[in-house]
Amino acid sequence: MSMECFVFFGVLTFLLTTNRADALDCLLEESCVLPCSFKPGAEVIVHWIQLADSPAHSYYYDQDQLSHQKPRFSGRTSLFKNQISGGNASLLLSGVKVEDEGTYKCYTSTDDHTKEIFINLNVYAPIRKVDLHQDGNTISCSSEGVYPKPEISWSTDPPSNQNLLEKIKVQQIGQLYKINSSLTSVPDVDYNCIVSTGRNKMAATLFKQTSLSGSSKETTMHCASSKSPPTSLTWRFNHSQIIVSDGSVMEEWMQQVKSEPMSGELTLKDLSTDHDGIYTCELRNAEGTYVTNTFLRIEHSQGSARSGGQITGIVFGVVFLAVLAAVLMVLFIKRRKKTKKAKKESNGNGKTPEEEISLKGT
Ligand SMILES: *[C@@H]1O[C@H](CO)[C@@H](O)[C@H](O)[C@H]1NC(C)=O
Ligand SMILES: *[C@@H]1O[C@H](CO)[C@@H](O)[C@H](O)[C@H]1NC(C)=O
Ligand SMILES: *[C@@H]1O[C@H](CO)[C@@H](O)[C@H](O)[C@H]1NC(C)=O
Repeated sequence: MSMECFVFFGVLTFLLTTNRADALDCLLEESCVLPCSFKPGAEVIVHWIQLADSPAHSYYYDQDQLSHQKPRFSGRTSLFKNQISGGNASLLLSGVKVEDEGTYKCYTSTDDHTKEIFINLNVYAPIRKVDLHQDGNTISCSSEGVYPKPEISWSTDPPSNQNLLEKIKVQQIGQLYKINSSLTSVPDVDYNCIVSTGRNKMAATLFKQTSLSGSSKETTMHCASSKSPPTSLTWRFNHSQIIVSDGSVMEEWMQQVKSEPMSGELTLKDLSTDHDGIYTCELRNAEGTYVTNTFLRIEHSQGSARSGGQITGIVFGVVFLAVLAAVLMVLFIKRRKKTKKAKKESNGNGKTPEEEISLKGT
């Protein structure tokens, strides 16, 4: 190959690839429009090709021409037919797959123009949710259904000089990634974990456990304060039992839950020492997940105050029953007097009303 020829092809390739090689991010499994426009004219020809050589969609003689289409595009491509005459050759690609990633060429020609447009298509499945759990002194941070491959990083507040010896496990389920990292916790620090891909990132924070001595009558616990409103809120007891999940209170906790549960605080009532334990609030919002653990101990002095209340209740009950009995007694006596009086009157003509009727009948 001569030098001139080499330079010529080099320049040509440069021109072709830099000629509007726009980047386009498409959500996995969703539909995506690959934009392409041209100067309207007659005898329109459109070829969409995934480079180097995978025909995705063709159009000429005023109709789709799919005989050369790669099978993996089958049934997933279409043009906006009624807008082709106006110079719109955009491709609608549905059910986006990881294999759809790559550079696409949109070739258009009319009776007097020819044009090529290049698009770099990237596929992604965003991180939507990060879970942070504590199990004994192991903390694990995880996320799933993510593409491309995510990364995870940890930090503590205050910064810990302890080396965060974490284990990271990345699995691919179908085309999507699941990541899980766990480490051994030390007390009295807040743990922060960030899951990220090139497209987005999301954080989760586990605040150090706090203690609370609560009244058995009524006790309120708080979630972490969050700037943006919660999209989801769950309260758990001793890590496993769910108390409230997104506004619905579990059957076993109906007697205890008093407050409006989406407010970021939980008010419990009628508590006993059976309710001593760890209360976890897991709050999610647009920024991430915030987990707080409160160790609640019910104060026993409050317990005796409650039995004092019970005694008052019993006294009231007894007094109420006595009054009721007295009233019934008075009513009973009055009634007896009345019937005696009635008997006396009917004895006047010698017969009771019942006797009179039966006599008439015979
Ligand atoms: C082509 O038409 C579709 C559907 O109306 C629209 O979404 C797209 O933006 C148009 N593209 C261009 C390049 O005009
Ligand atoms: C993450 O790993 C830890 C420790 O191996 C495990 O206990 C936990 O269940 C895992 N979490 C998920 C969501 O897979
Ligand atoms: C909850 O956890 C606390 C402390 O870990 C424990 O003392 C208590 O017995 C547990 N309560 C129940 C009902 O499991």
